[in-house]
Amino acid sequence: MTTTLVRAESRADLRGALAGHGGRVGFVPTMGALHDGHAALIRRARDEVGPEGLVVVSIFVNPLQFAPGEDLDRYPRTLDADLAACAEAGADVVFVPPVDEVYPGGEPQVTVDPGPLAAILEGASRPTHFAGVLTVVAKLFGLVRPDVAVFGEKDYQQLALVRRMATDLCLGVEVIGAETVREPDGLARSSRNRFLDPAQRRHALALSEALFAGRNAGGSADAALSAAVDVLDAAEGIELDYLALTATDLGDVPASGPARLLVAARVGSTRLIDNIAVDLGPAPATTSPHPSHTNAAGGS
Ligand code: PAF
Repeated sequence: MTTTLVRAESRADLRGALAGHGGRVGFVPTMGALHDGHAALIRRARDEVGPEGLVVVSIFVNPLQFAPGEDLDRYPRTLDADLAACAEAGADVVFVPPVDEVYPGGEPQVTVDPGPLAAILEGASRPTHFAGVLTVVAKLFGLVRPDVAVFGEKDYQQLALVRRMATDLCLGVEVIGAETVREPDGLARSSRNRFLDPAQRRHALALSEALFAGRNAGGSADAALSAAVDVLDAAEGIELDYLALTATDLGDVPASGPARLLVAARVGSTRLIDNIAVDLGPAPATTSPHPSHTNAAGGS
């Protein structure tokens, strides 16, 4: 489905594009460098709001979520291809603001405190990242006023935090998580994959293979973790940051039922993350308490 895309660069443009629209608004915030995973989010937003609804995509590389020395300047910018991808996936409006349209007074004095969930996993090595993410997402929600917003499960901690923010701050937007889109060999689609040379691309497969091994290990938390660790221990060319098994809301790993297995590693100079749903099976007859955030193999 290709749509006629309205391109809004200022808040006023965006207001104009939204004005008079009575239907539901679906929103997909992105930083551009769009790939099939983003297209799936846009299509999901369309499914949520229906043909009469309005699907808005934002493309904004948010400086607030990059610490000094992170890859802000290196982050890929591919606007023409992104606009074509938005139209092809069925978006109605694309909001492409310059930095001073989002942060007219420079860095904001009031920001969102993401709370304790932001200190674990990604937050352990990127302590200011989620404050930057939640602050821009809150601002974009304020500008777009969506009924539903769609985020990828690929950035699972981000999704959990946005959900938490929407609930805790009563933002009145339904936050939807869409399943990770993978390459045929299992590698999660990511804007950063383009930085991998062919050898690194092969090495990066260890992440998804570890997750699949953990998911397929059948049953206990220990079995899931040790199957994933075995794959990562045998892997070449990756520097593991963490492997962690948690509850689906990133709390303590449950003794049974749904859980989440998450991994992060550096492949060359590119940091990759991935995660997968794991079913820890039915509750045993007698349960023993599990430690908080069962981490393994260099976990944070
Ligand atoms: O996932 C991303 O691309 C970004 O973190 C987001 C949600 C667009 C905020 O800048």
